Amino acid sequence: MDKKKKTRSRSPEETPTDTRAQKRYRVDDTTPPPFNINNYQLIKKLGKGSFGKVMLASYTIKSQLVAVKIIKKKKKTDYHDIEMEATILRLGHTCPFLSRAYAIFQTESLVLFILEYARGGTLHKLIKRHRYLNSQEAQFYSAELVLGLRYLHKYGIIHRDLEPRNILLDEEGHVQIADFGFAQARKFDSKACHGTGGASGYMAPEVLEDVPYNSSADWWSFGVVVYEMATGKLPFSPNGTFQEQLDNITNTEPYYPETLTPEFRDFIQQLLKTKVEHRLGVYANAQDHPFFSSVNWETVKERSMVPPLKPRIKQIDMLSNIPFPENKIRKTGMNKEFTYIDPSWLDK
Ligand code: ADE
Repeated sequence: MDKKKKTRSRSPEETPTDTRAQKRYRVDDTTPPPFNINNYQLIKKLGKGSFGKVMLASYTIKSQLVAVKIIKKKKKTDYHDIEMEATILRLGHTCPFLSRAYAIFQTESLVLFILEYARGGTLHKLIKRHRYLNSQEAQFYSAELVLGLRYLHKYGIIHRDLEPRNILLDEEGHVQIADFGFAQARKFDSKACHGTGGASGYMAPEVLEDVPYNSSADWWSFGVVVYEMATGKLPFSPNGTFQEQLDNITNTEPYYPETLTPEFRDFIQQLLKTKVEHRLGVYANAQDHPFFSSVNWETVKERSMVPPLKPRIKQIDMLSNIPFPENKIRKTGMNKEFTYIDPSWLDK
């Protein structure tokens, strides 16, 4: 017997192989080009973010490479978290050391963050390639990271997932703190946040302990990142339960190679203080530490400090054209104010 396949009506976003992209998504003549999904050609996967995948794409109107974070609207989608990430990206647009959003919009089934493509890979890859960084190299990345973190904290944003995989490098080798999917905004008081999360090995003791915390948690994670730059290794084991990791942090002293300059070593030690009130970044401005004594902060702010290492730039196969993921239309989503365009993209 011939079994008739059940068919259901397709959303415009589900038409699988229509090569004329304009037909695939519901857009009309009034949709500005940056908010028209058909103007983006997906090239390859860059990674998986906290709640969506990130693809390399070309914004075909300008033949400009961008990174597109694609979040499928699902039954369980937490729109509050997505709004939070969008808010943070909007707030961050004037800081050169944060991942930049060009446009944020939604279709009936997807949420899209169009981000600046950081072509130089991650700090994680850079450290792996060089095994570890010397004091002068680490000073450069640390200085840009300190400005990025201080900018976030000034706006009450706690990143909560700072680690070298979330620190991107642009084509020239400057830093961009990325992935605000786990970040919290408008956290100004001393015990503003709670909840365990973040990457194993980078979580602050107060996060592992599951007690309320604030931006202090980012300064700890930053300390772990600096230690990793200095040694190529983590200071504390990322294995075991949260309690075991916490015990390990409380009872062991990380190994510091003899070759570290006293300032470099002290900088890391001041950041990796178990007691929040003794931690650099909390009790004092990290910029004032002697590790940065040769740094001209005005130069750093202007992105005029020369990156000490050249990032590896990969060739891109512009011919590939991956379809946007299929997904059911959802009635829910963000309200209209969610849509955002970076001022620098207005004329594009
Ligand atoms: N991975 C995640 N976000 C990215 C970005 N903006 N550029 C390059 N790779 C990424």
